[in-house]
Amino acid sequence: MLSNQANGEGKRTSLHGHWSSRMAFILAVTGSAVGLGNIWKFPYIAGQNGGGAFVLVYLICVVAIGMPVMMSEILIGRRGRRNPVATMALLGEEEGSSRQWLWVGGMGVLAGILILSYYSVVAGWVLAYVAKSATGEFAGASAEEVSSIFANFTGNWKAVALAHTIFMGTTVLVVARGVERGLEQAVRFMVPALLVLMLVLLGYAINSGHFAEGLAFMFTPEWDKLSWDSVLAALGQAFFTLSIGMGAIMAYGAYLPEETSITGASAAVVAADTGIAILAGLVIFPLVFANGLNPGGGPGLVFETLPLAFGQMAGGALFATVFFVLLSFAAWTSALGLVEPAVAWVVEHFYKSRAQAAVIIGAIIWAIGFGSVLSFSVLKDFKFLAGNVYENIDYLTSNIMLPLGGLLITVFAGWVMCRNSTADELGGAGFTFKAWRLLARFITPIGILIVLINAVWPVIKAAIGF
Ligand code: TRP
Repeated sequence: MLSNQANGEGKRTSLHGHWSSRMAFILAVTGSAVGLGNIWKFPYIAGQNGGGAFVLVYLICVVAIGMPVMMSEILIGRRGRRNPVATMALLGEEEGSSRQWLWVGGMGVLAGILILSYYSVVAGWVLAYVAKSATGEFAGASAEEVSSIFANFTGNWKAVALAHTIFMGTTVLVVARGVERGLEQAVRFMVPALLVLMLVLLGYAINSGHFAEGLAFMFTPEWDKLSWDSVLAALGQAFFTLSIGMGAIMAYGAYLPEETSITGASAAVVAADTGIAILAGLVIFPLVFANGLNPGGGPGLVFETLPLAFGQMAGGALFATVFFVLLSFAAWTSALGLVEPAVAWVVEHFYKSRAQAAVIIGAIIWAIGFGSVLSFSVLKDFKFLAGNVYENIDYLTSNIMLPLGGLLITVFAGWVMCRNSTADELGGAGFTFKAWRLLARFITPIGILIVLINAVWPVIKAAIGF
C-alpha cells in the first residue's frame, strides 16, 4: 500500500520496492552518471572552451553546485517515493506550497527525452566503432585516415540511423523488462574495467611524449579565454555529467532505503564521476598534441584520438574493441536513467504497463533522434540559434533546462521544504546538514542564476533585436 504519511513511523514506501543495499544505489547512480558525458563530451567541450580555466570552473561547479543539487534530488525523491512529476506535486502540497511544482518534474521528463534523442545517436557511433575496431579498420591508421573514417561514417546518415535504431531498441528492451539484476551486474563489472583500460591508455599517453602539454592544457587556467558562455558550458557539463537537474536521481532516490546516508552516497558518486572525466582528459589531450590534432575539434575528438592510439599499440584491435564495448555499456546504463522519469511517469499517470510505456517513450525519442542523425550529414549546414539541430538540443538541455531544473529543485529543498523535513532526510541537523542548507539556500541558486543570466541575456537581446 502506498501511504501518504511522511513523518514519524508511517514513512511512505515506493511502489517499485527498494535497492537491495547502499552499494546497489551507489552503483546505479554511478552507472547513470558515468557515460558518454565523461569520455566523449567532457574532453571535447573542455577543448572547445580552451582547457584550463574551463576545467577549473567545471570543478568548482561540481563541488559547489553539483553536490548540493544531487543531495537535494535524492532527499526529495526518497521523501516523495513516486515518479518525479508526482513527487513534486505531492511534496509541494505537503510542504504547504503548491502542486504546481509538478512542472519541475515535467520539465525533467522532457529534458530526459531530448537528451536521449542525441545521446542514442552518439551511442550508435560507439556501437559502430566496436565493429570497426574488431575488424581492424584502425590498425596503423594515420591521423588523417582516422579523421576521414569518422567523417565518412557520420556523414552516412543511413548507417548512423541504423546504429541509433539498434541502441534505442536495446534500451527499450531492457527498460521494458524492468531494471534487472543483469544490469546491476554489468555496472559492477563495467566501471572497474573501464577504469583499468583508462589507466592502460594513461600509460600510453604518458609515453606519447606530449603528456606535459596535455597536463598544461587541462590545468593551466588562461582566464582571458573564459567567456560567460564557457562558464555556462562548464555549469551545463557539471549538470550533465552528474545526471542532475532533470529528476533522474530523484527517481532513483525514490527506491533508496531510509537509513542510507545521502551525503555519503552523493560524495562517492561525485568523486567517481569526476575522477573518470579528468582521467579521460589526461588520456585524450596528450594524444591530441602528439598527433597534431585540434583540441577544439568538437564531437569527433575521442572518435579520432582513441582509434589513433589503439591503432599504434600492440594488440590494439583487441583493446579498442573491449574499450568501445565498455563505453557502450556505460552509455546504456546512462540511457536507462535518462528514460526512467518519463517511463515511471507514463506508467503511473496513464496506467500503462512498463513495457507499453517503454515502447511509447522509446518511439518518440527515436523519432526526435533523426534531427541529430541528420545533423552530421544532410542537415549539417542547417543552422539556427546555437548551430545545427544537435547543437541546439544539446544547448537547450545541458545549458538551460538542467541548470534551471537544478535551480528550482534546490530552491524547493532549501526554501519550500521545512527545516525538519530536510534535516530528517539528511540524518539530523549536524554539520553536513548545515553546510548543505547554506549551499542549497544561497550559494547554489545564486551561482546558477548569475551564470544563466549573464550567458543567456545577450542571446535573448540579440534574438529580440534589442
Ligand atoms: N550523466 C550521463 C553521462 O555523463 C548523461 C546524463 C545526463 C544522464 N542526464 C542524465 C544519465 C540523467 C542518466 C540520467 O553520460
